[in-house]
Amino acid sequence: MAGRVEGKIAFVTGGGAGMGKEHALLMAEEGATLIVSDVNETEGRQTVEEINGKGGQALFIKFDVASEAEWQGAVEQAVTTFGRVDILVNNAGILAMNSVDKTSADELDRVLDVNVKGVFYGCKHILPAMQKAGGGSIVNISSIYGMIGAPVAAAYQASKGAVRILTKSVAVDYAPHNIRVNSVHPGVIRTNMTKGILENAAGTEAILATTILRRPAEPREVSYAVLFLASDEASYVTGAELVVDGGYTTM
Ligand SMILES: NC(=O)c1ccc[n+]([C@@H]2O[C@H](COP(=O)([O-])OP(=O)(O)OC[C@H]3O[C@@H](n4cnc5c(N)ncnc54)[C@H](O)[C@@H]3O)[C@@H](O)[C@H]2O)c1
Repeated sequence: MAGRVEGKIAFVTGGGAGMGKEHALLMAEEGATLIVSDVNETEGRQTVEEINGKGGQALFIKFDVASEAEWQGAVEQAVTTFGRVDILVNNAGILAMNSVDKTSADELDRVLDVNVKGVFYGCKHILPAMQKAGGGSIVNISSIYGMIGAPVAAAYQASKGAVRILTKSVAVDYAPHNIRVNSVHPGVIRTNMTKGILENAAGTEAILATTILRRPAEPREVSYAVLFLASDEASYVTGAELVVDGGYTTM
């Protein structure tokens, strides 16, 4: 049986760990060829080795998504190697936990550089290649914290809110080119990003208080949402927000 993204070329940022790694592994299992990128070379290469070890095809590109020049080079390398890119998952992101008054200018700059400019440059540089290839699907990873308020995450919330609306802007501009653009909004997922919070009983209780499924998710539970949006199964879905939060934002 053909995979759900059989024969597609998929580019995942932050693919060395956490959800990005799982998105890459799942899409490879479903028949895609992967470009895995990360600033962490050891972990990024490990993801690629796992995919290739299972008979898949993957290439690692080390770069920082905050750099436009590095984005340009990475897209060129991907297109030179595989001829086109059908799917981009803008997953790489960083967390900063501070209220507005405690956020330094440097911290704000770094969060916006990675979480907002990283996604913006990714779209900017992949779109011409997708347009040339006749279409594509971009999945931008926002957060429920791009939709609702939360304590001490001012810069992060500003960045994820920006990803949410940027997604709709690109969806509008590129619909005529057969390029779909959607955002995914995870709730509390068990990764390095949430390790510190989930290792602490009080932190876990606080963060799960409004999660109606009463548990954090495993990364793969988000990867299935990303896979759907990336695939042709979502052919009529663009500009949408897919919330994967165990009901956190339900009440
Ligand atoms: N974990 C959660 O509960 C949660 C919830 C909502 C949204 N998210 C979002 O999901 C995405 C993935 O989060 P995660 O929990 O898997 O994080 P993670 O920290 O486990 O992994 C992030 C990966 O991105 C890489 N990365 C970081 N900065 C980079 C940069 N500048 N350039 C390239 N790669 C970079 C890291 O090296 C790492 O491999 C992020 O955008 C995050 O904001 C996470």
